[in-house]
Amino acid sequence: MQNFDFYNPTQIVFGQDRLAELDKHIPQNAKVMVLYGGGSVKKFGTLDKIASALGSREVIEFGGIEPNPKFDTMMKAVEIVQAEKVDFLLAVGGGSVMDGTKFVAFASTADSEHHTLLFHGFNPVPVSEALPLGCVVTLPATGSEMNPFGVVTYNDQKYPFMSPLVFPKFSFLDPDLTRTLPDEQVANGVADAFVHVVEQYLTYPVHGMVQDRFAEGLLKTLVEIGPTTLADKDDIDARKNFIWSATMALNGLIGSGVPHDWATHMIGHELTAMFGIAHGRTLAIVLPSLLRERKEQKREKLLQFAERVWEINEGSDDEKINSAIDKTEAFFNSLGIVTNLTHYGINDSDIDTVVANMEKMGLTALSETGDLTLDIVHKILTAAK
Ligand code: NZQ
Ligand code: ZN
Repeated sequence: MQNFDFYNPTQIVFGQDRLAELDKHIPQNAKVMVLYGGGSVKKFGTLDKIASALGSREVIEFGGIEPNPKFDTMMKAVEIVQAEKVDFLLAVGGGSVMDGTKFVAFASTADSEHHTLLFHGFNPVPVSEALPLGCVVTLPATGSEMNPFGVVTYNDQKYPFMSPLVFPKFSFLDPDLTRTLPDEQVANGVADAFVHVVEQYLTYPVHGMVQDRFAEGLLKTLVEIGPTTLADKDDIDARKNFIWSATMALNGLIGSGVPHDWATHMIGHELTAMFGIAHGRTLAIVLPSLLRERKEQKREKLLQFAERVWEINEGSDDEKINSAIDKTEAFFNSLGIVTNLTHYGINDSDIDTVVANMEKMGLTALSETGDLTLDIVHKILTAAK
């Protein structure tokens, strides 16, 4: 196991009918901005419940955060926060709203000439303070509710950022709030969480026995509850496990002390930026093809994945590995996700453009060892056609 620091200060408030407890978690005298997306939380009554929990506090609403939140949209919120002297941010929505809110949290405290410098890949952003924020999660997927990451779209490119300053103070995880999700979003969320686990697990062995077994437990849970969550909106146990798996998949725990390979995410982000394909879906398209291409580099962990997650115990090592990758792709397909690029209208020249854009973004040495070049990205995408 590698050396690591593990730090996660986010308080989780888990369960049904607990929104009234927001009152306990936000200072009584706070001026609160409630941030949300395209309107689902208004339509389904969540904002009303939140307004009543916030009681007499002064509240400003900021709606219209789009999926894959844009820098310009979030800067409008920053202007209001600064003008109105807001001192607490409450994100109500999925990953896009939570990430956008994190950006507002630190951009509001930074000088304007620094706003575009806030994207520094996964290096900490150059700010020393941020407004406190909390989350009410309506879409389990990204893990943003319990991590220090965010992704904002700037000049048609997706920029990840990271700062321990933007860990949410708390996150409410209520399975009932996810019952209005369309099937497509449930499928995307399951795929996103599954791939988060895979990218911290399917690398090379470092004898992180705890991390491996947590990761395998999460993967097996997602395989079990993905279809049951889709099949029955009232299966509250499935929903609870879906939410908790998604949070645990990217809150730092399983990724501590082990190598990471975020290549699928980096390629996926480009597919979202260029073609608007939803985040989770891009990952389901890229991952099977990437695993087939990277069989040799990931051989030992792929075998472990085959035996422990998919319980494949017959056949040669190669047969087990091939079957595990096929089962992974079939799992995504069973959720209703089509995993070939042509279905999304993407052709050879588009693949060339994806690769060229990744080069512009400096994404030229991906994987757990930095050996995944753009030629290999090209091969992965071509095989995913
Ligand atoms: O905007 P509204 O009207 O609320 O509708 C949303 C949106 O259209 C809808 N939705 C959310 N909750 C709902 C609901 N509809 C009905 N009922 C509900 N309960 O779902 C749509 C998609 O929402 P979005 O927030 O965009 O999805 P997701 O949670 O998948 O977030 C994706 C974003 O997170 C980033 C992605 O890059 C992308 O920008 N990521 C953030 C990460 C992080 N912070 O750690 C890691 C991830 O890998 C990812 O990159
Ligand atoms: Zn993701």
